[in-house]
Amino acid sequence: MSSPRVSQMLAQPITLKLSGKVIPNRLYRSALSEYLGSFDQEDLEGSGEPLPQYAEFHKSLADGDIGVICFGNIPIHRDYLQGPKNVILDANQSWDAIQALSPAIAAAKSNGAICLPQITFPGRQVPEHLNTSPLSSSDVQLEPCLGMTYGKPTPLTKEGIQDLIGRFAWAARTLASAGADGVVVHASHGYIFTQFLSPSVNRRTDEYGGSLENRARFLLETIEAIKAETSTDNFVIGVKFNCHDFIEGGQTFEEQCTVFKWLEDAGVDFFDITGGTYASPAWRGEALSSYPGFPSGPKGEGVFLRWAKEFKKISTRAVIGTTGGWRDRMFMERAVAAGEIDMCGLGRPLQENPDFTKTILEN
Ligand SMILES: Cc1cc2nc3c(=O)[nH]c(=O)nc-3n(C[C@H](O)[C@H](O)[C@H](O)COP(=O)(O)O)c2cc1C
Repeated sequence: MSSPRVSQMLAQPITLKLSGKVIPNRLYRSALSEYLGSFDQEDLEGSGEPLPQYAEFHKSLADGDIGVICFGNIPIHRDYLQGPKNVILDANQSWDAIQALSPAIAAAKSNGAICLPQITFPGRQVPEHLNTSPLSSSDVQLEPCLGMTYGKPTPLTKEGIQDLIGRFAWAARTLASAGADGVVVHASHGYIFTQFLSPSVNRRTDEYGGSLENRARFLLETIEAIKAETSTDNFVIGVKFNCHDFIEGGQTFEEQCTVFKWLEDAGVDFFDITGGTYASPAWRGEALSSYPGFPSGPKGEGVFLRWAKEFKKISTRAVIGTTGGWRDRMFMERAVAAGEIDMCGLGRPLQENPDFTKTILEN
């Protein structure tokens, strides 16, 4: 049995410092693709409009008393989808994006949760059946993994990088106009920002490759552009962020700590800590034992807790949570009550049961 003091911790509100927005409790729904957008492979231009179930699903999450709802992947370029059936935010579409997104955002916020949709560009992690010519930091091709094959990528030009930065900023502004409290930038799981940060993928010799400062430039410029476009601290910028990519020669925790500080200084107010890529899918939250040198923790505890709490130690302002593997309320309570992290993120448990939060909070 938990002590009452510890139980109360998960139910405590927490304030996002820059925006002053209050999160009603310490549990959040991490970004998890809903696959509730229209899709027709022969008509990609007409795909990605939210289906009615998109709002209904977010209403069910809100009714479960969750503190933050991050919508899953929303690709910002319809020619480069990470998969079929997600809602797309691209200025090149025939419907009104603000009107289309508003019902789901209103539904997510209907019970006091903060709503932070995730905006995404997959880079080379585009299934070959959707696009044979992806874009990435360099031309390093992803080997077949997760049951899919991937085309050889073309390195982004500097103009291409600026185009993507503009798209991220446009998507954030559109979501702000549709009522979102902020966004989560997907900078994990092997997507585009990981492909720039990782020295084993990024072989560039210009100002976007080489030193860590250069490899982090695209991500930092994107955060800056979102800030400029949404023009107020009231709009929350969150980042889903890897502790490691669990690939030899890839992102290391030491480098990620430095990037974490740069992001916090740039105005990121919420971090969802995760890890891995498509080729090393530790993000699925399973035991880490398949990654040499990373012993697994107890079953039911967040698998990235050991790194998230180190980020929390060096953080001066942001709210820090971690997703992956949380299944046991006692572990969640213990980590939050000890101040190791601020929040716990949930993916699949809420997919199966949107009332899971209620069950936890009601002890
Ligand atoms: C089917 C599926 C889809 C996912 N989609 C996303 C996504 O859109 N964006 C993201 O950042 N993570 C995504 N994830 C990862 C989850 O957010 C989460 O990190 C992972 O499921 C581990 O958390 P859990 O053990 O609580 O499920 C997805 C995971 C699954 C299983």
